[in-house]
Amino acid sequence: MIAGLEGRVAVVTGGAAGIGRAIADKFLESGATVLTADVAGAADILCDVANEPQVEAMISTVIGRYGRLDIAVNNAGILGPFGKLLEQVEEAEWDKAIGVNLKGVFLCMKHELAAMSGQRRGVIINLSSVMGFLAAPKNPAYSAAKHGVLGLTKSAAVQYAGKGIRINAICPGFVETDMGTTIGADNSLSDFPKPFIPMGRKANPVEIAEIAAWLASDSSSYLTGEAIGADGGWRII
Ligand SMILES: NC(=O)c1ccc[n+]([C@@H]2O[C@H](COP(=O)([O-])OP(=O)(O)OC[C@H]3O[C@@H](n4cnc5c(N)ncnc54)[C@H](O)[C@@H]3O)[C@@H](O)[C@H]2O)c1
Repeated sequence: MIAGLEGRVAVVTGGAAGIGRAIADKFLESGATVLTADVAGAADILCDVANEPQVEAMISTVIGRYGRLDIAVNNAGILGPFGKLLEQVEEAEWDKAIGVNLKGVFLCMKHELAAMSGQRRGVIINLSSVMGFLAAPKNPAYSAAKHGVLGLTKSAAVQYAGKGIRINAICPGFVETDMGTTIGADNSLSDFPKPFIPMGRKANPVEIAEIAAWLASDSSSYLTGEAIGADGGWRII
């Protein structure tokens, strides 16, 4: 339980599974009101983050029900065309990976910021990745999108710093979720993650949720535009 989330209204995209579900559960446990949004699974709101009318409707639903939006976690993401050389990536695969992982974050931020600006208060947390800093030799589209998420995070953090809105990113390494299992199933990565991760293990989604809860709370009140590595030391070696 993180103090300071009691009564806050939060939306978590991709909240039906994995890291998003763990974040939603941590927020609920900490006393927040949480709406999960997802394309699939048991979410409170059905929303494809790559579709602007659906994103607009998601934020309208939150505002219509609770009158405000205090915390938004833009977590929905897909792996995209994993295991391909750049020259083998189809245009449609690129569009899909960038559409969900980068345009989706832009669209959500656009409508979240419009709602939060009027309140002059709010926190946005974007899920980037260690691949937002590093090359992804197995997945250039994913790395490009996650680098882009950090650019959006930093630029918007500066634009909205004077409006009481803080915007930060979490950059996980390798997390035990469906996406993490898909990456781990690649035979060429059979000894992964040990050579990459000094801690020698994947993260539990709850460990990412703890960081999100801290970022969402006033305990991190002087932090904006930051990209927090949550990678067991991967990025520093
Ligand atoms: N698992 C990892 O190792 C890892 C590492 C670094 C970053 N991340 C990032 O963390 C976030 C969550 O990853 P995860 O491991 O929990 O993935 P996951 O595949 O376990 O869950 C992702 C969720 O997002 C939803 N989703 C997918 N496309 C969507 C769309 N267009 N609109 C709305 N919802 C959509 C899925 O239905 C699913 O519920 C992603 O942005 C991912 O890129 C994951």
